[in-house]
Amino acid sequence: METLFIKGGRKLGGELDIVTAKNALLPILAGSIISDKNVILKKVAKFSDVMYMVKILESLGVEAKFEGDTLILSPKHAYAHVVKDEYTKKVRSSVFLLGPLLSRFGNAKIAYPGGCNIGNRPINLHIKGLEALGVKIEEKHGYIICDGKNMSAGEVHLDFPSVGTTENLMMASVRLKGVTTIYNCAREPEIEDLQNFLNSIGCKVSGAGSSTIVITGVESFKDCEYQPIHDRIVAGTYLIACAMCGGNILLKGCEKKYNQALIQKLKQSGAIVEDLGKDIEIKSNGKLKSIPSIETQPYPGFPTDLQNQILAMQTITKGTSVVVENLYESRFKICNELLRMGADITIKDRMAIINGVERLYGANVVASDLRGGAGLVLAGLVADGYTTVEDIYHIDRGYLSIEEDFCKLNAEIQRIRD
Ligand code: EPZ
Repeated sequence: METLFIKGGRKLGGELDIVTAKNALLPILAGSIISDKNVILKKVAKFSDVMYMVKILESLGVEAKFEGDTLILSPKHAYAHVVKDEYTKKVRSSVFLLGPLLSRFGNAKIAYPGGCNIGNRPINLHIKGLEALGVKIEEKHGYIICDGKNMSAGEVHLDFPSVGTTENLMMASVRLKGVTTIYNCAREPEIEDLQNFLNSIGCKVSGAGSSTIVITGVESFKDCEYQPIHDRIVAGTYLIACAMCGGNILLKGCEKKYNQALIQKLKQSGAIVEDLGKDIEIKSNGKLKSIPSIETQPYPGFPTDLQNQILAMQTITKGTSVVVENLYESRFKICNELLRMGADITIKDRMAIINGVERLYGANVVASDLRGGAGLVLAGLVADGYTTVEDIYHIDRGYLSIEEDFCKLNAEIQRIRD
């Protein structure tokens, strides 16, 4: 088992390149099976979730080869349209393979992805959207079985701007003769990135980033070389870390425009954030004011994937703050561990009320999910004394090597392998 060992209390300094986005790479990898043409992806961050998605593609007959951080995918000989439960349990977001498999093979069969520690993660919106495009769907023996024989272009209205559903339907529509319009789409930057990738293999998609996306079916595709956008959640995590610990860091290759909601909150708390075009610089004296209210919303609102990290920050800011989690039903598991570090938090349903304390104290804590684990690392960096974080495999799903990143930023943190 691996743990992170952290000595808190150091100011952060230095600079860091931000890696490509997990939540852009995953749908783009799924989309690589849509055509039989080669796909070269540049600067692929080898998060464990990404490496599992590559394994899923290989199980479907796609040839995958890394040359450094360049990934060469040859989907020409892809033959299977069944994704087994050993994979969907590891990468629940593999549900958005339904769209690409339907586009490529006309049918798809995926083991039910199930929930995770932050919520049930239902897929009813995916199913409803695909049925609106004429897909016949059966759910039996733990599998979702899709028959795309009678699929046709048309209009789909999403009940909620679901990121994965938007991505699934975009990819399910790219070969449908005619025009498909999806309304009430999610507007995350990763969706715009998926649109740019799909267009680079020959698709005709427009409108991503707005709530209406239009897809015109095509029949021919081309080889492509593509570099996904940077990871705004990794960047946001490190901006929050510097605001909490104090110091001055430069994050390279990450545009401010993708983190506007967070940056506004950090400025409100007293940190100084400079927009340097392709880079962001943050300065902080570590003595922050509480942010009265933070509510997670679909993009461009405050991202749920940074909620645990900014909640950790609120535990040591001066004053009282309220964090409301609107996207997931159990994304406050971090709070039990923060209480053990001396935080003052009260949970009422989807609301956390935090009274800032003078300091946190190092403790042995356990990560229960990806972003909660990242939040515990941030708490350890600012706490008095030593903190160990267990079950860090959760964190490795979305941070390439969080301890190496923080060592580059002057923190005292190491991974213990026993
Ligand atoms: C994506 O998940 C991200 N994952 C999540 O990041 C992120 O938290 C989420 O979008 C919201 O921004 C990837 O992109 C791989 P949704 P996704 O469909 O697509 C409900 C991380 O930490 N819903 O927008 O699953 C759902 O329960 C991860 O990197 C339905 O009810 O998110 C949730 O409450 C965590 N029915 C809300 O919508 C459905 O069919 C948002 O889900 C689908 C979703």
